[in-house]
Order: sequence, then C-alpha cells, then structure tokens
Amino acid sequence: MELIDGKKISLQLQSEIAEEVKTIVSKGGKQPHLAAVLVGNDGGSETYVAAKIKACENVGFKSTFIRHTSEVTEAELLATVVKLNNDKDIDGYIVQMPLPKHIDEQKIIKAVDPAKDVDGFHPVNVGRMVLSLPSYISATPNGIVELIKRYKIETSGKHCVVIGRSNIVGSPMSILMAKNNAFANCTVTICHSKTKDISFFTKQADIIICALGKPEFLTADMVKQGAVVIDVGTTRVTSTETKSGFKLKGDVKFDEVAPKCSFITPVPGGVGPMTIASLLSNTLLASKKVIYK
Ligand code: GUN
Repeated sequence: MELIDGKKISLQLQSEIAEEVKTIVSKGGKQPHLAAVLVGNDGGSETYVAAKIKACENVGFKSTFIRHTSEVTEAELLATVVKLNNDKDIDGYIVQMPLPKHIDEQKIIKAVDPAKDVDGFHPVNVGRMVLSLPSYISATPNGIVELIKRYKIETSGKHCVVIGRSNIVGSPMSILMAKNNAFANCTVTICHSKTKDISFFTKQADIIICALGKPEFLTADMVKQGAVVIDVGTTRVTSTETKSGFKLKGDVKFDEVAPKCSFITPVPGGVGPMTIASLLSNTLLASKKVIYK
C-alpha cells in the first residue's frame, strides 16, 4: 500500500508556481492577483479562504479579501461580482460556497466572467471541460487528476467508481476519468443516493473516488484487493484531540480499507491540500491569459 501524500505534492506544485512567478516578475511581468469573497462566518469557509489567501502570499501572488456579512443581499453580492469582473488588476476570483439560503448560488456563479472564474464553476467553463476545450477545471477534480499523474497511477481501461454526483466534485470527476487521455480512459460508474447496492459496484472497482460527504462510509468489505481509493470527504466533527476543537473525517474507514489498497489518500493530507494548488495554478493560467486570450 502506498499513501498518496497530497500535502507534499501540493507544496511541490506551489514551489513550481512560485518559481514561475519569480521569472515573470523579474522580466517585468504582472504579479498574478487572486480575489476571494467570503459571505458570513461559517467556520469551514473561514478556514478555507484563509488558507487560500495564505497560499497566495507563499507563491508571490497578490491577493484581495472581500468579506460580506450573511445579511448581504443578492443585489449587493452581484455588485461585488461586477466590480471584480471590471477590475483590470484582478486576474481571477472565487466566491466561497456555500452562500446563505436567500442568495441564488447559480445566479452568482453565472455572473462571474468565465475568464476570471478560476473555480471553474461557470457553465461556460463546465461546458468547455466536457468538450475537452481549454477551460478552468474546478479545484478538487483538478487536484485528484494531478495526484493520479504524479503517482503514475495506471488508469487506462480501469473501472472507476465515483460515489457522489455533485456539481463541484462527483459530476466533473466522472467526466474527467472517462476522457480520452493518458491519465483517464477509465470505464466510469457513478453511484449516488438512489443507487440500489453501492457495494455491488465498489467491489468491482479498480479506482474508487469517494465524494459523498458521509464519514467512514466506505468500509473494507466494499473494496477489492489492490484498489486505488481517493477520499474526498472533509466532514468537520467536534474533537477534544485538536486545538481548534474540530477534526476532519473522510468518507473512507481508513484503518481497515488502507491495507487492501495499492494507493490511498489520507484525510487530512490527501485531496484537501491539492485544491489550493489547483486554485493557484488556475490563477496563474488566468494571469498568463492561457485559457481565454
Ligand atoms: N466550497 C467548497 N469547495 C469550494 C471551492 O472549491 N470553491 C469555492 N468557491 N467554494 C467552495
């Protein structure tokens, strides 16, 4: 069993990005600039946005942090989005999800300029991704593909079972794994809340991507010997063992599943850190105008 070290790969990617930024700036080029919008004070979102801003500093990006209270109106938030679309210095930005119930998330996502949508959430970017056209690919699926590449995991002709069909992870992941390229070419099955017998599928899987958000859902009896297991779960549970009072729990019962795997991602330290590297990588693409000329 080999542990997939997302933290190490994320740091490697960040140092590669930092090197490139240094070169760009030394030649008189523009420092990439990411903005992050946070609405309300959800603990998880606060932590994620803080980590994104900190990562910008680490790689030499400029960052702008915009905070709205949870009482912000949809119109006010849309005004912020329009301002960011028109700000020539900002290369890309994110609006941290989830948003409060009174705001239509899709309306906000659709208002973001696709060229600045470094989250890859806009329908134009999702559509381009499906058609294999240049696009921003959202952070988690992009990070998982990068882990598969860097660990040289064999995917061609393999059966990949994706559990979960969210817009952010499950759906794009299933599309990416079926693509006709070296790090995909899988036969893909998507399982979800209405699937009759998930273990019937997972037991046949060479690769399992678990993104349903149910702590310790995937148990050893559901996994074939030698499978690759990617755990996307990040449920926050209260804990007396940590300073923050919280602990992240994955969707996989790690201790019993790991011995059966050829590769497995831990939680924390697996997929999570990769999402930051993906966001930085998309922001660098935005500042270089690689996807949208
Ligand atoms: N909420 C959970 N994941 C993400 C993400 O990748 N981007 C944004 N903007 N919000 C999120």
